[in-house]
Amino acid sequence: MGNLQEGLDMISIASDRPTVRIAAPGADRAGHAGTAGSTDGPGGPPAVVELDRVSVFYGDHEAVRETSMPIRQRRVTALIGPSGCGKSTILRTMNRMNDLIPSARVTGRVSYHGQDLYAPEVDPIEVRRRIGMVFQKPNPFPKSIYDNVAYGPRVTGMKVGNMDDHVEQALRGAALWDEVKGKLRSNGLALSGGQQQRLCIARTIAVRPEVILMDEPCSALDPIATGRIEELMHELAQHYTIVIVTHNMQQAARVSHYTAFFTAEVDAAGVRHGKLVELNDTGKLFTDPDDKRTEDYITGRFG
Ligand SMILES: Nc1ncnc2c1ncn2[C@@H]1O[C@H](COP(=O)(O)OP(=O)(O)OP(=O)(O)O)[C@@H](O)[C@H]1O
Ligand SMILES: [Mg+2]
Repeated sequence: MGNLQEGLDMISIASDRPTVRIAAPGADRAGHAGTAGSTDGPGGPPAVVELDRVSVFYGDHEAVRETSMPIRQRRVTALIGPSGCGKSTILRTMNRMNDLIPSARVTGRVSYHGQDLYAPEVDPIEVRRRIGMVFQKPNPFPKSIYDNVAYGPRVTGMKVGNMDDHVEQALRGAALWDEVKGKLRSNGLALSGGQQQRLCIARTIAVRPEVILMDEPCSALDPIATGRIEELMHELAQHYTIVIVTHNMQQAARVSHYTAFFTAEVDAAGVRHGKLVELNDTGKLFTDPDDKRTEDYITGRFG
């Protein structure tokens, strides 16, 4: 946890930024079972990842403009907003996945524990080990369940002691162990969609990341599998810092401590671009947002 001064510093830094509003999270909600949001004091825990005026271009098109936001340690931050507003684009800046799109260019600063993630000496492979990603469609390798989980530690040369124990631990961490312990040599693709997604989460946590990015991880799943993943996210948030993109506002309200609302706007020059409107404690954002555009979106008047 950050100390008070750290928290105050963060608020004062954030308040200098025109695109972000950070309200003091509602301490009054502490202890209310099932209520969304954080019970953090002002400022909350320190930022693990921090975006500072990050813009992303695809060729000449500026897809997202000047996004500044902290991603706080061991908290779930949800990114919501209408299709095309740049949620996936911004998520990808956080572990340099945009590097894999030839036309993409990132300006501004993305830092990880204060270090510039895009500095020339930074190895993007190492970035993605520390900041893992789970995609919309479960994408296990066409390998055994065991090998799916062992793959990352093997290719990165991670020292794990006993691999069997390590695989078990990752599968337990992804709440999948009990369902697969008798068939670790079966193909990962033979699992149900929800199990495959938990296998992908196990594969991600097997390399001991600090941050897990999830881009609509439940959109291909049924409500029961979705519920399992949401429960799992609560558990994962005790150890990991999580950022989730979701189209489902109820899901954002259920799983996240902080929510960032993005929208797509047309500027004076007629250029359509994504923009962060409001970052707030989740409970506050969904009940008493600071920005009219957020209110219109969450009440269904827009998007
Ligand atoms: N690989 C790409 N090449 C060119 N333009 C892209 C690429 N990916 C995204 N864009 C553009 O960037 C903008 C933001 O797209 P992005 O996929 O980040 O939105 P999103 O908020 O995740 O939308 P959705 O909710 O539909 O997933 C859109 O205008 C989109 O067309
Ligand atoms: Mg997307």
